Parts: sequence; C-alpha cells; structure tokens
Amino acid sequence: MIAHLPHRTDRLLLRTLRVSDVDAFHGYRSREDVARLQGWSPMSREQALEFLRGEATDAPLLPGAWRQVGIAMHDDVLVGDIGIHLSADLHAAEFGLSIDPRRQARGLGTEAVQALVSLLLRHTPVATIIAATDARNLACRRMLDKAGLRKTGERTAMFKGEPCMEHVFAIERDGHR
Ligand SMILES: CC(C)(COP(=O)(O)OP(=O)(O)OC[C@H]1O[C@@H](n2cnc3c(N)ncnc32)[C@H](O)[C@@H]1OP(=O)(O)O)[C@@H](O)C(=O)NCCC(=O)NCCS
Repeated sequence: MIAHLPHRTDRLLLRTLRVSDVDAFHGYRSREDVARLQGWSPMSREQALEFLRGEATDAPLLPGAWRQVGIAMHDDVLVGDIGIHLSADLHAAEFGLSIDPRRQARGLGTEAVQALVSLLLRHTPVATIIAATDARNLACRRMLDKAGLRKTGERTAMFKGEPCMEHVFAIERDGHR
C-alpha cells in the first residue's frame, strides 16, 4: 500500500511523513486536546522529531506493526496523520488518526478515512478494516460513520490508567461498494 503513495483525493494527499514536517506535526501533536482521547501523550519538539525520523520511510507496511502516514493538503502542508496496523495474518487492518484542530470539522478526516479504506482494499488482502474509539469521542464516532464504517460493538478498555468504554467500527471487504 505504501508503494501507492502519494495518493491524491479531492483536497488531500496521503503521503509518507518527512522529518521536514516537524513544525506542522509538532503543532498538533503537542496539544492536550488532540491527545486526550488517544493512546499517546502530547509530544515535545524533540519527541516529534524522533517520531518522524522513525516513520519517514518508503518501506512497506509490516504485518503486526503500526505505521504512520501523513495527511497533507494539495500544497503539501501536513494537516494530520493516520496510523495503520495490519494483523499478522493479514486478515484485518486497524487505523486511528489525528487532524490539526485548526482544520477539523471540514470533512478532512472523513476524506482521509475513505481514501485509506479504498487503498487498503485495493492494495492489501485484508477482509475487514476496524477503528476503535473512546465512546466520549463524538467527533470520531461521527467521522467513522460518515466514512462508511458501521459500529460493530462496544468493549471496556483501560485508557491512560482509567477504565473506559470503546466503540468498535468496521467495514468489510464483502460489503464495500
Ligand atoms: C476525530 C477527528 C480525526 C475528526 O477529524 P475531522 O477532520 O474534524 O472530521 P470530519 O470533519 O470529517 O468529521 C467530524 C464530524 O464530527 C462532528 N463533531 C466535531 N466535534 C463534535 C462534537 N463535540 N460532538 C459531536 N460531533 C462533533 C463534526 O461536526 C463533523 O460532523 P458533520 O460533518 O456532520 O458536521 C478529529 O476530531 C481529531 O483529530 N480529534 C483528535 C484526535 C482523535 O481523537 N482522533 C481519533 C482517534 S481514532
């Protein structure tokens, strides 16, 4: 799938991350409101640079490992990133994403998820694509629904040391048009 990047949509480019994205990346990855309902904590600039150094590669997705891909506007300015995980048996993919708060609520998250789903179905053998979100994350739940995923269940999870309820959304290759 990575070999098929950059991938252009109406407004976005899904592309590999670069060390030169650090200002934009750190801009939203340092924010408590972006990190609040996600598995990571706000990053310092040094942590952001270190992260980008590890992700700035054209190497293929490795089953069993998370990989982060950039979400940029057509002018190449980074506005978010999306993490992708392929299961070891290649049956399922999972993803999670962040959009810079200055660009949220304009449909960019939905556009990025739709593009990712289409790339994964076209260029990997996965049968199902899932995203799990904290039940409190109304924007994420709304975005996943708009992108065509359907809620398949709820589960309790430990999140940043506290119990929480997660909603699991999925889209199946068989049901995808
Ligand atoms: C979740 C996230 C990626 C969505 O990105 P986005 O570009 O704003 O998504 P979209 O604009 O496509 O859709 C968001 C929808 O949620 C709605 N929304 C935003 N905040 C909301 C809230 N507090 N309550 C209810 N709906 C809300 C928006 O209005 C929009 O719906 P609409 O088009 O019907 O008006 C973004 O909010 C984000 O980065 N959040 C912080 C990181 C995070 O929690 N990521 C989720 C991990 S999976």
